[in-house]
Amino acid sequence: MAKLIFFLAVQILLLAAVSSTGDNGENFARTIDRKLLGLHKREKLTHFKAYWHDQVSGPNPTSIVIQPPLSNSSFFGAIAMIDNALTAKATMNSTVLGQAQGFYAGAAQKELGFLMAMNFAFKTGKYNGSTITILGRNTAMSEVREMPIVGGSGLFRFARGYVEARTEWFNPTNGDACVEYSCYVLHY
Ligand SMILES: *[C@@H]1O[C@H](CO)[C@@H](O)[C@H](O)[C@H]1NC(C)=O
Ligand SMILES: *[C@@H]1O[C@H](CO)[C@@H](O)[C@H](O)[C@H]1NC(C)=O
Ligand SMILES: *[C@@H]1O[C@H](CO)[C@@H](O)[C@H](O)[C@H]1NC(C)=O
Repeated sequence: MAKLIFFLAVQILLLAAVSSTGDNGENFARTIDRKLLGLHKREKLTHFKAYWHDQVSGPNPTSIVIQPPLSNSSFFGAIAMIDNALTAKATMNSTVLGQAQGFYAGAAQKELGFLMAMNFAFKTGKYNGSTITILGRNTAMSEVREMPIVGGSGLFRFARGYVEARTEWFNPTNGDACVEYSCYVLHY
C-alpha cells in the first residue's frame, strides 16, 4: 500500500513537472529511437527509369503554361503546371507508373534553363501511393541533366538521390516531349 501511494505520488509529481513546462513551447520536440522508424537498417539504393510525357498539344494537355514567358528568346519567367504521365517505356501506351505533378519555370535569361519542382506520384505495384520529390535545374538542351531528389514519402521516406534526364524526343511543331528520367534513390 505504501509502495502504491509512493508510486502515485511520483506519477503526480512527474505529471506536474511535465504540465508546468509542457505548455511554454520549449519541449515540443524530443529525440527518439531510430529503430522506431526502421532507420537502424542499411539504406537501400533503388534504380528505375520512368518516361515523362510533356503533353502540351491536343485536346487534353497535361502540361499547361499558366504564366507566359517575358520574352520569346528564352523561356524566362514562364511557368507551366504539369500532371504528366510517367510510363515504363518511351511509348505513351506502355504501363503508367504514376504521374509527375508540379511545375517547371523558366529560370535562366541567357539560355534555356528550367527550375523543376515536381513530385513523382507512383501508382503501380508496391510503390502505389509513394512519392519522390525532385527539385533542380534543367538545361533542357543539354544531353544529360542531373537533378536532386530531395525527399520522398511512403516506401521512399527519407529519400535522397538524383535523377538523370535525357530527352527521348521533342516535337518542335507542337511542343510535346518525352524525357527519360533515370532515378537513383537512397531510402530505407
Ligand atoms: C512571342 O511570340 C509570339 C508569336 O511569335 C508573339 O505573338 C508575342 O508577342 C511574342 N512575345 C514577346 C514578349 O515578344
Ligand atoms: C503503342 O504505341 C506504339 C507507337 O506509339 C505502337 O507502335 C504500338 O503498336 C502501340 N501498342 C499498342 C499495344 O497499342
Ligand atoms: C493504388 O492505391 C489506390 C488507393 O489505395 C487504389 O485505389 C488503387 O486501386 C491502387 N492501384 C493499384 C494499381 O494497386
